[in-house]
Amino acid sequence: MDEQAPNLNIDSDTDYHDVAVNTHDEISTQLSSSHPVVTDYQITLNFSDGITKQFSVAPNTSILDAALENDVPVLYQCRSGSCSSCLCTINDGDANTLDGESSTLLPSEYSLGQRLMCVSQANSDCSFDLAYSSDVGATSVQEAKVFIDSIERIAADTVRLTVELADGYHMSFRPGQFMQINVPGVGLVRSYSPSSTDQDLPKMEFLVRLIPGGVMSTYLAEQAEADQVLTLTGPYGAFFFREEHKRAPHIFIAGGTGLAPILSIIDTLRQSSGIKPKMLLNFGCAIPDALFCLGDIELREQWLPKLETRICVDREATEAHHLGNPVSPLQADDVADPNTVAYLCGPQPMINAATARLVELGVKAENIFAEHFVASH
Ligand SMILES: Cc1cc2nc3c(=O)[nH]c(=O)nc-3n(C[C@H](O)[C@H](O)[C@H](O)COP(=O)(O)OP(=O)(O)OC[C@H]3O[C@@H](n4cnc5c(N)ncnc54)[C@H](O)[C@@H]3O)c2cc1C
Ligand code: FES
Repeated sequence: MDEQAPNLNIDSDTDYHDVAVNTHDEISTQLSSSHPVVTDYQITLNFSDGITKQFSVAPNTSILDAALENDVPVLYQCRSGSCSSCLCTINDGDANTLDGESSTLLPSEYSLGQRLMCVSQANSDCSFDLAYSSDVGATSVQEAKVFIDSIERIAADTVRLTVELADGYHMSFRPGQFMQINVPGVGLVRSYSPSSTDQDLPKMEFLVRLIPGGVMSTYLAEQAEADQVLTLTGPYGAFFFREEHKRAPHIFIAGGTGLAPILSIIDTLRQSSGIKPKMLLNFGCAIPDALFCLGDIELREQWLPKLETRICVDREATEAHHLGNPVSPLQADDVADPNTVAYLCGPQPMINAATARLVELGVKAENIFAEHFVASH
């Protein structure tokens, strides 16, 4: 009877006969003495509320997969390194990106110790900090059916989509988080951040930029009608209003439909009890015709006397606008308080520029929260 050969990687210059005459046990002994046995690594995750979770992860395995297998309440969504939901920061140990994977982190963010758990492996025991408390990820994702209430074209390439939860469905989210909406008949989902708040439920509002030829954009521009049913799941994401900073001055920087989660956060501050913090909103689009929600912003300025807004356009500015991107009007006086907190949402170059400028003006890096609307792939 043929005996099955042990599964060994024998390189071409190995003397095969030497190996073949040994028993399986002898081979194992030889291997373990010449190759150190690689063991699992111990991972420690430190949540912002002081809760610590530990679990082990095998080499070449995603840290996120291991965390989820161990029921650790971490945030995630795309599981492919593109949405940044699973962001963490190394405070001890060595972890790098898994072979064949890539992440949207900038080299500077990576060198500061930031990692995306879904595409990272440990090379030693590691300890990571998470910028959210342990109860956040414990909120389970729900699926809901919604009816379209209305679709309104609010600028040349932007629509406001208003939906209402169907009877029997529930949804809950933190201001700033996002939902995944199915594109009817296509079998694909796209991510959108409500501009409304939990208090507006069962209604939800989304601001969507129409991208020529885009799957969801085409549906919304050409096929969507009131009373059609959509399926959405959520909430997702680590970009959300941080209750613990609610008394600190707030700076909001929004590019295009990045305004959506920012409006949700501003409205949450407006609806919250107590003294409102000083707020600054810099909102920008390419040209005046692309701007939207200016009436909504004006209303909030009236309701919130401590809210200052600066509307920016890259080109064709009139007296009502700042010329340039929404980062350009930031000035030293805007960061008089070292506890200032900032929320940024828009294209990646805007987020990078805003982060660099805010840090230069004295905002602590850990008080800057950002979301980039990456394209689906
Ligand atoms: C966490 C998160 C939250 C988001 N929230 C919102 C939101 O509130 N409002 C909103 O409008 N969008 C938001 N997006 C983007 C949204 O999910 C879709 O990517 C976008 O609406 C395009 O979908 P589509 O199906 O129309 O286009 P697709 O079919 O996905 O893309 C068509 C083509 O356009 C390219 N493309 C896609 N997006 C962009 C872009 N932004 N700029 C340039 N080219 C692009 C694609 O690479 C592709 O070549 C969010 C994305 C993420 C990850
Ligand atoms: S879940 Fe890791 S980047 Fe999206």
